[in-house]
Amino acid sequence: MRSIVEIIAAKRDGHTLPDDEIRWLIAEYSADRLPDYQMSALAMAIFFRGLDHRETGTWTEAMLRSGVVLDLSDLGAGRVDKHSTGGVGDKISLPLAPAAAACGCIVPMVSGRGLGHTGGTLDKLEAIPGYRTDLDVAAFRAVLADVGCSIIGQTGEVAPADKRLYALRDVTGTVESIPLITASIMSKKLAEGIEGLVLDVKVGGAAFMKNVEDARRLAEAMVQVGEGMGKRVIAFLTRMEEPLGQMIGNACEVAESIEVLGGGGPSDVRELVVTLGGAMVELARGVSADEGAARVAQALDDGSALQRWRRMVAHHGGDDSRLPAPTGETAILASRDGYVTAIDGLEIGLSAVALGAGRTRADQAVDPVVGVRIDAPRGAKVAAGGRLATVLHGRGGAPPAEVTRRIADAFRVGSTQPEPAPLVIERIG
Ligand code: URA
Repeated sequence: MRSIVEIIAAKRDGHTLPDDEIRWLIAEYSADRLPDYQMSALAMAIFFRGLDHRETGTWTEAMLRSGVVLDLSDLGAGRVDKHSTGGVGDKISLPLAPAAAACGCIVPMVSGRGLGHTGGTLDKLEAIPGYRTDLDVAAFRAVLADVGCSIIGQTGEVAPADKRLYALRDVTGTVESIPLITASIMSKKLAEGIEGLVLDVKVGGAAFMKNVEDARRLAEAMVQVGEGMGKRVIAFLTRMEEPLGQMIGNACEVAESIEVLGGGGPSDVRELVVTLGGAMVELARGVSADEGAARVAQALDDGSALQRWRRMVAHHGGDDSRLPAPTGETAILASRDGYVTAIDGLEIGLSAVALGAGRTRADQAVDPVVGVRIDAPRGAKVAAGGRLATVLHGRGGAPPAEVTRRIADAFRVGSTQPEPAPLVIERIG
């Protein structure tokens, strides 16, 4: 076995690393015997030189084995999950897990908090008074057995090597590495004891992957790693320029998700729930994608998805009839007549973080109430002085002028109505 310095230099010079060295690196790092400065040098070498498919698979498996791997086989077949690479207004997991459960899937979903300008499922769920995201494995299993879905937070026991490495990458400029993202996401998801996984790889200005080529490479790498470990994986590349749906925040995104669960809500949110949920049903029940999508749409329309949601929330101790309400609102107005041709989702996401809906430091608490509502989506006609968006006030009261200006500047208003842009760009796997 070469020394750590030789391994770093080998990757720096573009060589591939043998499996035993990768396993050793992850084991040493997990056991705190490899210092952060050497791991960060290696992460930067990987950022520039990459990992091939074999190296990525071995790296993923080593991180997966650094913690517990749930065995939920006693719950029966059809255990599937969905993971999104992160977007603005991306509340899809909230309606999706109960809708898929209503169609016979078992959805053991372990979710994360907001990252950068993107929101996190856990922060949204914690806006529901009483909802506990920290169930232990026995309680998680009991909710799954009764409801068919449960959404909890990552415990320290799942892929601890990733937890540590992710925090290091976050502060060393090495997050945007396709093999490292692949290993990070797949090590956590494959620890859930699932048989199949649907991936929503976001593409665009408000996503971590800015262009279709990079998103496709990431999606293909994740599909390949999952399949190499005996799982069925389907990935979708989906558009992430404007925020998804109307609401960006925490409590307000829960409220919007409940509308979707009841058969209403914004059409883009419903479309993604039906498409991604359809693929989950396809994997879990062995039906076609179209049949899966039709079953999910039916579950949203006939009340069965909403019923699953209510049972899941009750099991977690939550009461969604007491969602906290905004303390006031500030309108963001158009300065000219025309059509909304684009909304910069990254700017809206960063504004929501600045208002307190997300974090700029890991130890910050989010404000569950504060948010932004999009009143004039892309393609809408607006008049000068008409409402583009609304800031929902939280504990900080009215927003600072620089934030309202930033939100107003995120809207492009032109004379010609833009063509509708497809939400689902491509399916892989
Ligand atoms: N999400 C993750 O879980 N890991 C990454 O590396 C990037 C996004």
